[in-house]
Amino acid sequence: MKRPSRNDLCWCGSGKKYKKCHMEEDKKLYVYEEQGFIIPNLNIIKTPEQIEGIRKSGKITNEILDMVGERIKVGVTTNEIDDWVSEYTIKSGAIAAPLNYGGFPKSVCTSINDVICHGIPEDRPLKNGDIINVDVSTILNGYYSDASRMFVVGEASENAVKLVEAAKEALYIGINEVKPYGDLNSVGIAIENYCNKLGYSVVRDLGGHGIGLKFHEEPHVDHFARSGKGVLLLPGMVFTIEPMINEGSYKCVTLEDDWTVVTKDGSLSAQWEHTILVTESGVEILV
Ligand code: MF3
Ligand code: CO
Repeated sequence: MKRPSRNDLCWCGSGKKYKKCHMEEDKKLYVYEEQGFIIPNLNIIKTPEQIEGIRKSGKITNEILDMVGERIKVGVTTNEIDDWVSEYTIKSGAIAAPLNYGGFPKSVCTSINDVICHGIPEDRPLKNGDIINVDVSTILNGYYSDASRMFVVGEASENAVKLVEAAKEALYIGINEVKPYGDLNSVGIAIENYCNKLGYSVVRDLGGHGIGLKFHEEPHVDHFARSGKGVLLLPGMVFTIEPMINEGSYKCVTLEDDWTVVTKDGSLSAQWEHTILVTESGVEILV
């Protein structure tokens, strides 16, 4: 991290000299940096007002996921799910973050069976035994929130249901690792360890991300183990944890549409996602 001189203007934009502003607070961070932690860009730390904005956005995301859960069943098409999400979002005075994001054509991602993520809603009806991830991201008053759940359509095979449950458990195991002045790497270590014990693999090419004022911010969140110290977790950081767990190999392929990511070996994949806040005492799930 940059270490301004005592008499420089503070990095926070207060207009005060560094020594009169964040210098003492930052000295604690230098100690972590010397231990090998990566200190995140401090401008990702959210103010209480911003956190409230993200929480309100998350409330809509959560309501949308509840609504989808009530209606989803055999025969529904993913385009119908897209319509439900779009209507509910607009009615709430919000914006669906995926729509037109990097050219994404719909308001929600729907990822069925071997689709890992970023599935595009279409007219294919859901079949008995499908497992589907519905990934909802909402912008309300400029604040972003992001969460996803799996739904089992009708009755699925035992192995499919087990994978869905394991992916959910993996998410909570990851969230449990989050604490102020902790190491972001511990999230991926815990998730990969849990999944490998069950014989599943963890997707490596895609991860979670900081969120709040933009859809994707720093830091990138790996769901697998990396050696050495990672990003230092600080109160006010908001990011997603969204492990993608495969029954077979972790390897991914992106389809011709440039969005849909599938498992290379055709095995099933499952994912759950929350947006979380690092608090002074631990962690809070915002949505
Ligand atoms: N919701 C996804 C995530 O978790 C991002 C989807 S980008 C989109 O990061 F354009 F496909 F919507
Ligand atoms: Co996300």
